[in-house]
Amino acid sequence: MPDVRVSELAAFENPGRKVVEVAGIEVGIFRLGDEFFAYENKCPHLEGPVCQGKILPLATEDIQRDGTSNGRVFSKTQMNVVCPWHGFEFDIRTGMHPMDSRVRLRRIPVKVLDGAVYVSVTPKA
Ligand code: FES
Repeated sequence: MPDVRVSELAAFENPGRKVVEVAGIEVGIFRLGDEFFAYENKCPHLEGPVCQGKILPLATEDIQRDGTSNGRVFSKTQMNVVCPWHGFEFDIRTGMHPMDSRVRLRRIPVKVLDGAVYVSVTPKA
C-alpha cells in the first residue's frame, strides 16, 4: 500500500493524536515530541477504540522498604494511551501492554516528510 498523507505536521498537538480512516481501517497517530507512532484503532481486548483514549504518563506505586506507600509516581518518559472501554493501557512508543508484552496494538508504519504526516496501511489478510 502506498503512503497516504493524513495531516500537516503543524496540525498535531504535542503530545497529541489524530484518528483517521485509511483504506477502511481506523488509524490512531500519536505525536510525542519529534516522534510519531501509529496503530490500528482496535484494542486487542474486545476491539474498543483504544487510540481515542486518554494519553497519560505511566503511573507506578512508590513502595518503601517497610511496605508502606509514598503514593503514585508518574513517569517522565513513558506515555500510555488508556482504552476508553475497559482501561487497558498501552505504551505509545511500543504499542505493548505494560504487564504483558504479548498484548499489543497493531503497528502501522508512519513517517514525516516535507512537513506532512504519512501512514502506510496494509489491509489484514
Ligand atoms: S476493549 Fe479495550 S480494554 Fe476492553
